[in-house]
Amino acid sequence: MQPQDYLLTDKVAIVTGGGGGIGRAIALELASAGADIVVADIVPERCQEVAERVRELGRSALAAPTDMADTGQVNAMVEQADQRFGRIDILVNNAGGVSGRAFLEQSERSWRKHIDLNLISMFAATSAAAPIMIRGGRGGAIVNVTSIEASRAAPAYAVYAACKAGMNNFTRTMALELADHDIRVNAIAPDYTVTPGTRGNWTGSVDPAAWRQPSQGQQEATARRIPLRRPGIDAECGKAALYLASPMSSYVTGVVLPVDGGSWASSGWIRDRSGQWTLMEVNE
Ligand SMILES: NC(=O)c1ccc[n+]([C@@H]2O[C@H](COP(=O)([O-])OP(=O)(O)OC[C@H]3O[C@@H](n4cnc5c(N)ncnc54)[C@H](O)[C@@H]3O)[C@@H](O)[C@H]2O)c1
Repeated sequence: MQPQDYLLTDKVAIVTGGGGGIGRAIALELASAGADIVVADIVPERCQEVAERVRELGRSALAAPTDMADTGQVNAMVEQADQRFGRIDILVNNAGGVSGRAFLEQSERSWRKHIDLNLISMFAATSAAAPIMIRGGRGGAIVNVTSIEASRAAPAYAVYAACKAGMNNFTRTMALELADHDIRVNAIAPDYTVTPGTRGNWTGSVDPAAWRQPSQGQQEATARRIPLRRPGIDAECGKAALYLASPMSSYVTGVVLPVDGGSWASSGWIRDRSGQWTLMEVNE
């Protein structure tokens, strides 16, 4: 493999929700590979922090505070990115989130909030950024961050899971609609990954040391359910996204890549208390 197969030198990437968690990790992986980064996050301090880290890696960064659920703000952010860099090569639709509640207890307001944040944000950013990629004539890569919940039942997360399933299918359809322009469209589908969000820190400052290490309880619970015996790490999503954004995956489009330690493959199988795989644990 040659450096040009994996480097993103001179490329410009927008990462939505890029100020924390998986988005932050993706932004830093892409910057490490040579890309300039537009950090679009609703929390301005998070945008600034990640932009600073990108600059420390020797790349240019634009901190672009944006509520991705607001299509007007999304359009303005993409326009600002275009004005600053004159091109967009990579779009990572990562902004998303969930609050758990049984569907019959969930309000219409909550459905719509989930749809705006998880689906409309992706539609708006794709609609604004893809024409700029097409105008550039150099192709491009779009990476959507969906979830394992897109592909299985998700009690207490019905609307979120429906949104993520929508993201999966949008990924496939866009792969076809944009193929003539050499714009590849793929997704990563994480399972449980330790991030500020999964620790209930949606708006606080981002100190990775404070949240990256899974707790003992999380480790034990996930060890039985996830074949690789641990939660995911944000940087592992970052590396998978880098693969899909870079020329390493030049013949890959329309794919949803699980980044889940094997959970999707296990599909109902868990480890019993003795560590053996089982479909049904019997408590005696
Ligand atoms: N962490 C997991 O276990 C997991 C599993 C599967 C899928 N995902 C998906 O990965 C993505 C990132 O999740 P995470 O765990 O890193 O989340 P997180 O909450 O740790 O970080 C999300 C980032 O997005 C920003 N954000 C929130 N609302 C926003 C908005 N309206 N506009 C712009 N930015 C906004 C936050 O400020 C934060 O920096 C989401 O799409 C999530 O659904 C996460």
